[in-house]
Amino acid sequence: MSGPHHYCEGQAVVETGGGFFRPSSRPARDFGVLLARTLAVLAAEGPVRVLDGMAGCGIRALRYGLEGGATLVWANDADPDRLPLLERNLAGLPLAVERRLSAATAQRLLADCLVQGRRFELLDLDAFGCPAALFPLALEAVAFGGVLYLASTDGRSATGHDRRAAVRRFGAAARAHPASWEIALRLQLGLLARTAWAMGRGITPLLSFSEGRAFRTAVRLERHPAPGDEGQLGLLAHCHGCGDQQVQSLLRLGRWRPCDCPVAPSGEAPALAVSGPLWIGALQDPPTLTAMLQQAEGSGAHLERAGRRLLERLRNDPGATPRCWPVDVIARRLAQGPPPLAELVAALRAQGFTTGVSGVMAGQLRSEAPWPLIMATARSLVAATAAR
Ligand SMILES: C[S@@+](CC[C@H](N)C(=O)[O-])C[C@H]1O[C@@H](n2cnc3c(N)ncnc32)[C@H](O)[C@@H]1O
Ligand SMILES: [Zn+2]
Repeated sequence: MSGPHHYCEGQAVVETGGGFFRPSSRPARDFGVLLARTLAVLAAEGPVRVLDGMAGCGIRALRYGLEGGATLVWANDADPDRLPLLERNLAGLPLAVERRLSAATAQRLLADCLVQGRRFELLDLDAFGCPAALFPLALEAVAFGGVLYLASTDGRSATGHDRRAAVRRFGAAARAHPASWEIALRLQLGLLARTAWAMGRGITPLLSFSEGRAFRTAVRLERHPAPGDEGQLGLLAHCHGCGDQQVQSLLRLGRWRPCDCPVAPSGEAPALAVSGPLWIGALQDPPTLTAMLQQAEGSGAHLERAGRRLLERLRNDPGATPRCWPVDVIARRLAQGPPPLAELVAALRAQGFTTGVSGVMAGQLRSEAPWPLIMATARSLVAATAAR
Protein backbone atom coordinates (compact mmCIF):
# COMPACT_ATOMS: atom_id res chain seq x y z
CA MET A 1 0.00 0.00 0.00
CA SER A 2 1.31 3.46 -0.84
CA GLY A 3 -1.45 5.40 0.96
CA PRO A 4 -4.81 4.86 2.57
CA HIS A 5 -6.71 4.85 -0.75
CA HIS A 6 -4.04 3.51 -3.06
CA TYR A 7 -3.17 -0.05 -3.82
CA CYS A 8 -0.11 -1.26 -5.70
CA GLU A 9 -0.10 -4.42 -7.74
CA GLY A 10 2.42 -5.31 -10.44
CA GLN A 11 3.22 -2.01 -12.16
CA ALA A 12 -0.17 -0.54 -11.30
CA VAL A 13 -1.08 1.94 -8.60
CA VAL A 14 -4.83 2.43 -8.28
CA GLU A 15 -7.49 3.86 -6.06
CA THR A 16 -9.71 0.92 -5.28
CA GLY A 17 -12.71 3.12 -4.44
CA GLY A 18 -15.75 2.03 -2.47
CA GLY A 19 -16.93 -0.76 -4.81
CA PHE A 20 -15.97 -4.37 -5.12
CA PHE A 21 -12.26 -5.08 -4.95
CA ARG A 22 -10.56 -8.21 -3.64
CA PRO A 23 -6.76 -8.12 -3.22
CA SER A 24 -6.79 -11.93 -2.90
CA SER A 25 -7.87 -12.29 -6.56
CA ARG A 26 -4.36 -11.25 -7.51
CA PRO A 27 -3.37 -14.58 -9.13
CA ALA A 28 -6.33 -14.27 -11.51
CA ARG A 29 -5.23 -10.76 -12.48
CA ASP A 30 -1.58 -11.84 -12.89
CA PHE A 31 -2.72 -14.69 -15.15
CA GLY A 32 -4.80 -12.32 -17.30
CA VAL A 33 -1.78 -10.06 -17.80
CA LEU A 34 0.39 -13.04 -18.74
CA LEU A 35 -2.24 -14.28 -21.19
CA ALA A 36 -2.21 -10.84 -22.81
CA ARG A 37 1.58 -10.93 -23.00
CA THR A 38 1.59 -14.32 -24.72
CA LEU A 39 -0.90 -12.91 -27.24
CA ALA A 40 1.32 -9.84 -27.73
CA VAL A 41 4.28 -12.11 -28.50
CA LEU A 42 2.20 -14.08 -31.02
CA ALA A 43 0.82 -10.89 -32.56
CA ALA A 44 4.38 -9.54 -33.10
CA GLU A 45 3.56 -6.13 -34.61
CA GLY A 46 -0.20 -6.81 -34.73
CA PRO A 47 -2.79 -5.27 -32.40
CA VAL A 48 -3.54 -6.59 -28.94
CA ARG A 49 -6.96 -5.13 -28.15
CA VAL A 50 -8.26 -5.89 -24.67
CA LEU A 51 -11.81 -5.42 -23.42
CA ASP A 52 -12.18 -5.50 -19.64
CA GLY A 53 -15.97 -5.82 -19.60
CA MET A 54 -16.52 -5.83 -15.82
CA ALA A 55 -13.64 -3.63 -14.82
CA GLY A 56 -14.51 -2.63 -11.23
CA CYS A 57 -11.87 -0.04 -10.30
CA GLY A 58 -9.99 -0.74 -13.55
CA ILE A 59 -6.96 -2.45 -12.08
CA ARG A 60 -6.92 -5.18 -14.74
CA ALA A 61 -7.38 -2.71 -17.59
CA LEU A 62 -4.47 -0.65 -16.27
CA ARG A 63 -2.25 -3.70 -15.90
CA TYR A 64 -3.14 -4.94 -19.41
CA GLY A 65 -1.79 -1.62 -20.71
CA LEU A 66 1.24 -1.38 -18.42
CA GLU A 67 2.36 -5.02 -18.34
CA GLY A 68 0.28 -7.00 -20.82
CA GLY A 69 1.49 -5.37 -24.04
CA ALA A 70 -2.06 -4.24 -24.96
CA THR A 71 -2.26 -1.72 -27.79
CA LEU A 72 -5.86 -0.81 -26.93
CA VAL A 73 -7.58 -1.07 -23.57
CA TRP A 74 -11.32 -0.71 -23.15
CA ALA A 75 -12.53 -0.57 -19.56
CA ASN A 76 -16.24 -0.98 -18.95
CA ASP A 77 -18.33 -1.37 -15.83
CA ALA A 78 -22.11 -1.31 -15.66
CA ASP A 79 -22.02 0.95 -12.61
CA PRO A 80 -21.86 4.56 -13.89
CA ASP A 81 -20.66 5.74 -10.47
CA ARG A 82 -17.40 3.96 -11.23
CA LEU A 83 -16.59 6.07 -14.29
CA PRO A 84 -14.72 8.90 -12.51
CA LEU A 85 -12.63 6.32 -10.63
CA LEU A 86 -11.93 4.42 -13.85
CA GLU A 87 -10.89 7.67 -15.51
CA ARG A 88 -8.47 8.54 -12.69
CA ASN A 89 -6.98 5.05 -12.60
CA LEU A 90 -6.59 4.70 -16.37
CA ALA A 91 -4.78 8.02 -16.53
CA GLY A 92 -1.81 5.82 -15.58
CA LEU A 93 -1.85 4.04 -18.96
CA PRO A 94 1.14 4.66 -21.24
CA LEU A 95 0.35 7.33 -23.86
CA ALA A 96 0.86 4.86 -26.70
CA VAL A 97 -2.01 2.69 -25.46
CA GLU A 98 -5.33 3.64 -27.01
CA ARG A 99 -8.08 3.75 -24.37
CA ARG A 100 -11.87 3.69 -24.15
CA LEU A 101 -14.08 3.91 -21.09
CA SER A 102 -17.76 3.07 -20.82
CA ALA A 103 -20.51 2.37 -18.30
CA ALA A 104 -22.76 -0.10 -20.11
CA THR A 105 -23.97 -3.52 -19.14
CA ALA A 106 -21.73 -6.14 -20.71
CA GLN A 107 -24.77 -7.44 -22.64
CA ARG A 108 -25.31 -4.06 -24.26
CA LEU A 109 -21.63 -3.40 -24.89
CA LEU A 110 -21.07 -6.81 -26.48
CA ALA A 111 -24.20 -6.44 -28.61
CA ASP A 112 -22.80 -3.10 -29.79
CA CYS A 113 -19.49 -4.77 -30.61
CA LEU A 114 -21.36 -7.28 -32.78
CA VAL A 115 -23.20 -4.52 -34.61
CA GLN A 116 -19.98 -2.53 -35.12
CA GLY A 117 -17.97 -5.63 -36.08
CA ARG A 118 -15.53 -4.99 -33.22
CA ARG A 119 -13.34 -7.85 -31.99
CA PHE A 120 -10.72 -8.14 -29.27
CA GLU A 121 -7.64 -10.31 -28.86
CA LEU A 122 -8.51 -10.63 -25.15
CA LEU A 123 -11.96 -10.32 -23.61
CA ASP A 124 -11.99 -10.40 -19.82
CA LEU A 125 -15.35 -10.88 -18.09
CA ASP A 126 -14.78 -10.98 -14.34
CA ALA A 127 -18.42 -11.53 -13.49
CA PHE A 128 -20.50 -11.78 -10.37
CA GLY A 129 -22.77 -14.82 -10.58
CA CYS A 130 -23.05 -16.92 -13.72
CA PRO A 131 -21.99 -15.32 -17.03
CA ALA A 132 -23.56 -18.07 -19.19
CA ALA A 133 -26.10 -15.69 -20.75
CA LEU A 134 -23.21 -13.67 -22.19
CA PHE A 135 -21.44 -16.57 -23.92
CA PRO A 136 -22.82 -16.11 -27.47
CA LEU A 137 -22.14 -12.36 -27.60
CA ALA A 138 -18.81 -12.78 -25.81
CA LEU A 139 -17.59 -15.34 -28.34
CA GLU A 140 -18.67 -12.99 -31.16
CA ALA A 141 -16.48 -10.25 -29.68
CA VAL A 142 -13.27 -12.35 -29.65
CA ALA A 143 -10.91 -12.36 -32.66
CA PHE A 144 -9.95 -15.77 -34.07
CA GLY A 145 -6.98 -17.00 -32.07
CA GLY A 146 -7.95 -14.56 -29.31
CA VAL A 147 -8.86 -15.44 -25.74
CA LEU A 148 -12.03 -15.25 -23.68
CA TYR A 149 -11.13 -15.11 -19.99
CA LEU A 150 -14.16 -15.71 -17.78
CA ALA A 151 -15.04 -15.85 -14.12
CA SER A 152 -18.19 -17.22 -12.54
CA THR A 153 -18.99 -16.99 -8.85
CA ASP A 154 -22.01 -19.24 -9.23
CA GLY A 155 -20.75 -22.10 -7.09
CA ARG A 156 -24.11 -23.49 -5.98
CA SER A 157 -25.53 -24.64 -9.28
CA ALA A 158 -22.21 -25.86 -10.69
CA THR A 159 -21.23 -27.94 -7.67
CA GLY A 160 -24.48 -29.86 -7.34
CA HIS A 161 -26.09 -27.75 -4.60
CA ASP A 162 -28.80 -26.31 -6.82
CA ARG A 163 -29.68 -28.90 -9.42
CA ARG A 164 -32.57 -26.95 -10.90
CA ALA A 165 -30.37 -23.91 -11.51
CA ALA A 166 -27.72 -26.14 -13.15
CA VAL A 167 -30.34 -27.42 -15.60
CA ARG A 168 -31.47 -23.86 -16.32
CA ARG A 169 -27.98 -22.35 -16.67
CA PHE A 170 -25.92 -25.17 -18.15
CA GLY A 171 -28.60 -27.44 -19.59
CA ALA A 172 -26.85 -30.11 -17.54
CA ALA A 173 -27.06 -32.29 -14.47
CA ALA A 174 -24.67 -31.25 -11.70
CA ARG A 175 -24.27 -33.71 -8.83
CA ALA A 176 -22.22 -33.52 -5.65
CA HIS A 177 -18.77 -34.87 -6.43
CA PRO A 178 -15.46 -35.00 -4.51
CA ALA A 179 -13.81 -32.85 -7.22
CA SER A 180 -16.61 -30.26 -7.16
CA TRP A 181 -14.52 -27.28 -8.36
CA GLU A 182 -13.41 -29.25 -11.35
CA ILE A 183 -17.00 -30.23 -12.20
CA ALA A 184 -17.92 -26.54 -12.07
CA LEU A 185 -15.09 -25.68 -14.49
CA ARG A 186 -16.01 -28.55 -16.81
CA LEU A 187 -19.70 -27.53 -16.89
CA GLN A 188 -18.65 -24.01 -17.85
CA LEU A 189 -16.28 -25.29 -20.55
CA GLY A 190 -18.95 -27.69 -21.84
CA LEU A 191 -21.42 -24.85 -22.31
CA LEU A 192 -18.77 -22.64 -23.93
CA ALA A 193 -17.90 -25.43 -26.37
CA ARG A 194 -21.55 -26.05 -27.26
CA THR A 195 -22.10 -22.32 -27.79
CA ALA A 196 -19.01 -22.04 -30.01
CA TRP A 197 -19.93 -25.16 -32.00
CA ALA A 198 -23.46 -23.86 -32.57
CA MET A 199 -21.80 -20.79 -34.16
CA GLY A 200 -19.58 -23.03 -36.32
CA ARG A 201 -16.53 -22.14 -34.17
CA GLY A 202 -14.34 -24.10 -31.79
CA ILE A 203 -12.61 -23.48 -28.47
CA THR A 204 -9.38 -24.70 -26.91
CA PRO A 205 -9.28 -24.55 -23.10
CA LEU A 206 -6.05 -22.83 -22.08
CA LEU A 207 -6.38 -22.35 -18.34
CA SER A 208 -8.94 -23.50 -15.75
CA PHE A 209 -8.68 -22.92 -12.02
CA SER A 210 -10.55 -22.00 -8.87
CA GLU A 211 -10.04 -21.25 -5.22
CA GLY A 212 -13.55 -22.48 -4.46
CA ARG A 213 -15.29 -19.12 -4.81
CA ALA A 214 -14.67 -18.02 -8.41
CA PHE A 215 -14.44 -20.50 -11.29
CA ARG A 216 -12.14 -19.15 -13.97
CA THR A 217 -11.56 -20.42 -17.48
CA ALA A 218 -9.60 -19.00 -20.40
CA VAL A 219 -10.33 -20.42 -23.85
CA ARG A 220 -8.90 -19.66 -27.27
CA LEU A 221 -11.48 -19.05 -30.00
CA GLU A 222 -10.83 -21.21 -33.06
CA ARG A 223 -12.24 -20.53 -36.51
CA HIS A 224 -13.50 -24.15 -36.69
CA PRO A 225 -13.94 -26.97 -34.18
CA ALA A 226 -10.88 -29.26 -34.11
CA PRO A 227 -11.44 -32.72 -35.63
CA GLY A 228 -12.86 -35.00 -32.96
CA ASP A 229 -13.81 -32.14 -30.63
CA GLU A 230 -17.37 -33.45 -30.30
CA GLY A 231 -15.91 -36.39 -28.40
CA GLN A 232 -14.88 -34.00 -25.61
CA LEU A 233 -18.43 -33.52 -24.39
CA GLY A 234 -19.64 -36.24 -22.09
CA LEU A 235 -20.97 -37.49 -18.80
CA LEU A 236 -19.23 -38.31 -15.55
CA ALA A 237 -20.78 -40.89 -13.24
CA HIS A 238 -19.87 -41.30 -9.58
CA CYS A 239 -20.95 -44.25 -7.46
CA HIS A 240 -21.54 -43.13 -3.88
CA GLY A 241 -21.49 -46.80 -2.82
CA CYS A 242 -17.98 -47.83 -3.84
CA GLY A 243 -16.48 -44.51 -5.02
CA ASP A 244 -15.88 -45.59 -8.62
CA GLN A 245 -16.13 -43.04 -11.41
CA GLN A 246 -16.85 -43.58 -15.09
CA VAL A 247 -16.68 -41.25 -18.08
CA GLN A 248 -18.54 -41.53 -21.37
CA SER A 249 -18.50 -39.22 -24.35
CA LEU A 250 -21.90 -38.31 -25.78
CA LEU A 251 -20.67 -39.61 -29.14
CA ARG A 252 -20.32 -43.15 -27.80
CA LEU A 253 -22.94 -43.15 -25.14
CA GLY A 254 -23.78 -46.65 -23.96
CA ARG A 255 -24.55 -48.47 -20.76
CA TRP A 256 -22.64 -47.76 -17.56
CA ARG A 257 -20.66 -50.87 -16.66
CA PRO A 258 -21.37 -52.48 -13.29
CA CYS A 259 -19.14 -51.18 -10.49
CA ASP A 260 -17.73 -53.20 -7.58
CA CYS A 261 -20.74 -52.63 -5.31
CA PRO A 262 -22.53 -55.71 -4.07
CA VAL A 263 -25.81 -56.22 -5.90
CA ALA A 264 -28.75 -55.60 -3.57
CA PRO A 265 -31.07 -58.57 -2.78
CA SER A 266 -33.63 -56.84 -5.04
CA GLY A 267 -31.09 -57.23 -7.87
CA GLU A 268 -30.91 -53.46 -8.22
CA ALA A 269 -27.48 -51.93 -8.88
CA PRO A 270 -26.53 -48.88 -6.78
CA ALA A 271 -27.54 -45.57 -8.30
CA LEU A 272 -24.86 -43.58 -10.05
CA ALA A 273 -24.78 -39.79 -9.69
CA VAL A 274 -24.31 -38.59 -13.25
CA SER A 275 -23.12 -35.06 -14.08
CA GLY A 276 -23.09 -33.51 -17.52
CA PRO A 277 -22.97 -32.92 -20.35
CA LEU A 278 -19.65 -31.38 -19.44
CA TRP A 279 -16.21 -31.00 -20.99
CA ILE A 280 -14.30 -34.29 -20.53
CA GLY A 281 -11.17 -33.18 -22.43
CA ALA A 282 -8.07 -31.37 -21.16
CA LEU A 283 -8.53 -28.39 -18.84
CA GLN A 284 -5.16 -26.77 -19.43
CA ASP A 285 -2.98 -26.11 -22.46
CA PRO A 286 0.58 -26.73 -21.16
CA PRO A 287 2.34 -24.86 -24.06
CA THR A 288 0.31 -21.73 -23.20
CA LEU A 289 1.05 -22.09 -19.48
CA THR A 290 4.76 -22.58 -20.24
CA ALA A 291 4.70 -19.44 -22.41
CA MET A 292 2.99 -17.54 -19.57
CA LEU A 293 5.63 -18.70 -17.08
CA GLN A 294 8.36 -17.59 -19.51
CA GLN A 295 6.71 -14.19 -19.88
CA ALA A 296 6.78 -13.84 -16.12
CA GLU A 297 10.59 -13.97 -16.31
CA GLY A 298 11.89 -10.52 -17.07
CA SER A 299 9.15 -9.23 -19.38
CA GLY A 300 7.87 -6.69 -16.88
CA ALA A 301 4.69 -8.71 -16.25
CA HIS A 302 4.39 -9.56 -12.59
CA LEU A 303 3.54 -12.95 -11.16
CA GLU A 304 3.42 -13.44 -7.41
CA ARG A 305 4.88 -16.53 -5.79
CA ALA A 306 1.53 -18.18 -4.96
CA GLY A 307 0.38 -17.57 -8.53
CA ARG A 308 3.58 -19.03 -9.95
CA ARG A 309 3.17 -22.18 -7.86
CA LEU A 310 -0.44 -22.52 -8.97
CA LEU A 311 0.48 -22.01 -12.63
CA GLU A 312 3.23 -24.64 -12.36
CA ARG A 313 0.81 -27.10 -10.75
CA LEU A 314 -1.73 -26.50 -13.53
CA ARG A 315 0.91 -26.89 -16.24
CA ASN A 316 1.94 -30.23 -14.75
CA ASP A 317 -1.66 -31.47 -14.79
CA PRO A 318 -3.38 -30.92 -18.15
CA GLY A 319 -6.48 -32.58 -16.68
CA ALA A 320 -6.90 -35.17 -19.41
CA THR A 321 -9.51 -37.18 -17.46
CA PRO A 322 -12.14 -35.89 -15.04
CA ARG A 323 -11.68 -38.91 -12.71
CA CYS A 324 -10.33 -37.36 -9.48
CA TRP A 325 -10.37 -38.56 -5.88
CA PRO A 326 -9.17 -36.79 -2.72
CA VAL A 327 -6.58 -38.92 -0.90
CA ASP A 328 -8.68 -38.40 2.24
CA VAL A 329 -11.59 -40.18 0.56
CA ILE A 330 -9.30 -43.06 -0.43
CA ALA A 331 -8.04 -43.19 3.19
CA ARG A 332 -11.60 -43.28 4.55
CA ARG A 333 -12.55 -46.09 2.20
CA LEU A 334 -9.41 -48.03 3.17
CA ALA A 335 -10.17 -47.33 6.83
CA GLN A 336 -6.46 -46.64 7.16
CA GLY A 337 -4.16 -43.65 6.93
CA PRO A 338 -3.90 -41.77 3.63
CA PRO A 339 -1.70 -43.31 0.93
CA PRO A 340 1.38 -41.26 -0.01
CA LEU A 341 0.09 -39.38 -3.08
CA ALA A 342 3.37 -39.12 -5.00
CA GLU A 343 4.04 -42.84 -4.55
CA LEU A 344 0.49 -43.72 -5.57
CA VAL A 345 0.90 -41.66 -8.75
CA ALA A 346 4.25 -43.34 -9.54
CA ALA A 347 2.87 -46.84 -8.90
CA LEU A 348 -0.18 -46.35 -11.13
CA ARG A 349 1.96 -44.81 -13.87
CA ALA A 350 4.32 -47.78 -13.66
CA GLN A 351 1.29 -49.97 -14.37
CA GLY A 352 0.67 -48.00 -17.57
CA PHE A 353 -2.18 -45.67 -16.53
CA THR A 354 -2.21 -41.93 -17.17
CA THR A 355 -2.14 -40.60 -13.61
CA GLY A 356 -1.12 -37.39 -11.86
CA VAL A 357 -1.72 -35.07 -8.96
CA SER A 358 -4.67 -32.74 -9.64
CA GLY A 359 -3.55 -29.15 -10.19
CA VAL A 360 -7.11 -27.92 -9.70
CA MET A 361 -7.81 -29.18 -6.15
CA ALA A 362 -5.09 -29.88 -3.58
CA GLY A 363 -4.56 -33.43 -2.30
CA GLN A 364 -6.37 -35.16 -5.17
CA LEU A 365 -5.38 -38.03 -7.42
CA ARG A 366 -6.29 -37.91 -11.10
CA SER A 367 -6.15 -41.28 -12.83
CA GLU A 368 -7.46 -43.37 -15.70
CA ALA A 369 -6.70 -46.57 -13.77
CA PRO A 370 -9.58 -48.88 -12.79
CA TRP A 371 -10.90 -47.98 -9.35
CA PRO A 372 -10.31 -51.43 -7.78
CA LEU A 373 -6.68 -51.20 -8.92
CA ILE A 374 -6.31 -47.70 -7.44
CA MET A 375 -7.67 -48.98 -4.12
CA ALA A 376 -5.49 -52.11 -4.15
CA THR A 377 -2.37 -50.07 -4.98
CA ALA A 378 -3.20 -47.54 -2.26
CA ARG A 379 -3.78 -50.37 0.27
CA SER A 380 -0.41 -51.97 -0.43
CA LEU A 381 1.37 -48.59 -0.26
CA VAL A 382 -0.20 -47.81 3.12
CA ALA A 383 0.85 -51.26 4.37
CA ALA A 384 4.40 -50.80 3.02
CA THR A 385 4.66 -47.35 4.63
CA ALA A 386 3.47 -48.73 7.99
CA ALA A 387 6.05 -51.54 7.80
CA ARG A 388 8.97 -49.12 7.21
C1 LIG B 1 -15.93 -9.04 -9.70
S1 LIG B 1 -16.13 -7.31 -9.97
C2 LIG B 1 -14.78 -6.87 -11.00
C3 LIG B 1 -13.48 -6.82 -10.26
C4 LIG B 1 -12.29 -6.41 -11.09
N1 LIG B 1 -12.23 -7.09 -12.38
C5 LIG B 1 -11.02 -6.67 -10.31
O1 LIG B 1 -10.18 -7.52 -10.72
O2 LIG B 1 -10.84 -6.03 -9.26
C6 LIG B 1 -17.48 -7.29 -11.06
C7 LIG B 1 -17.86 -5.89 -11.60
O3 LIG B 1 -18.83 -6.09 -12.62
C8 LIG B 1 -19.76 -5.02 -12.59
N2 LIG B 1 -20.96 -5.57 -13.22
C9 LIG B 1 -21.93 -6.33 -12.66
N3 LIG B 1 -22.83 -6.70 -13.60
C10 LIG B 1 -22.37 -6.21 -14.77
C11 LIG B 1 -22.84 -6.26 -16.11
N4 LIG B 1 -23.96 -6.92 -16.42
N5 LIG B 1 -22.11 -5.66 -17.06
C12 LIG B 1 -20.97 -4.99 -16.77
N6 LIG B 1 -20.50 -4.88 -15.51
C13 LIG B 1 -21.19 -5.48 -14.54
C14 LIG B 1 -19.89 -4.65 -11.14
O4 LIG B 1 -20.24 -3.27 -11.02
C15 LIG B 1 -18.48 -4.95 -10.60
O5 LIG B 1 -17.70 -3.77 -10.53
ZN1 LIG C 1 -20.29 -48.81 -6.82
